[in-house]
Amino acid sequence: MRRKLAAGNWKMNGRTSDLDQIDALEAAHNDADVDILICPPASLLARMSARTTKIAVGGQDCHAATTGAHTGDISADMLIDAGATHVILGHSERRTDHGETDDDARAKARAALDAGLIAVICVGETLAEREAANTLDIISGQLAGSIPDAANGTNMVVAYEPVWAIGTGLVPSTDQIGEVHDFIRTKLEARFGEGVGRSVRLLYGGSVKGSNAAEIFAVSNVDGALVGGASLTAEAFSPIITALDAS
Ligand code: PGA
Repeated sequence: MRRKLAAGNWKMNGRTSDLDQIDALEAAHNDADVDILICPPASLLARMSARTTKIAVGGQDCHAATTGAHTGDISADMLIDAGATHVILGHSERRTDHGETDDDARAKARAALDAGLIAVICVGETLAEREAANTLDIISGQLAGSIPDAANGTNMVVAYEPVWAIGTGLVPSTDQIGEVHDFIRTKLEARFGEGVGRSVRLLYGGSVKGSNAAEIFAVSNVDGALVGGASLTAEAFSPIITALDAS
């Protein structure tokens, strides 16, 4: 039985005053039977993690090395030191803005697992790739390239995030989501064996909102969501958590 996960990715948003949102979420969902994760900017990690026991906090990236001369970067161990338990890796915005490759994502994920973090590894096709009917090939390559051999259902979550659905308000049909999630499950089972492959949680991400969450959570092999814009306030994220808890 996979435990459901509602994950929020605050991206480059959030100031001290936004920590109030965590208090509101915790109060509203203290009894929720799902895992809740918020990945704030690094500047808020330690203060956010000190503020909540119900909500897990995570980083949005980490370096593949443990320490050293890497200006502006943060290591997996530093994230843990700040109270993080998870880290998002291979997000399409990292791939686009910073030229990160599957190899980069895999090296970072290896470092995250070595440090004891849960890696939330993101995959997803662009619109051009979908229109060229290459979606499953792209996902297959990203899974093979981005996931380290040491991954399993305890230390890794996979997020399917079509690039064209992120921040656009466009959402794939439930059939399209189901096709990719079933495919990812099959791939994980083939690589890691049935038991491990079945235990990995698969999140859908890309324009998830309170109004579309329930139908997305009804899709097979969708174990939760990775939410950007709608995770920034308790008011917007709360209905998503409620829908997941009810699914
Ligand atoms: P969005 O972002 O919910 O704002 O589309 C999702 C993500 O990038 O994780």
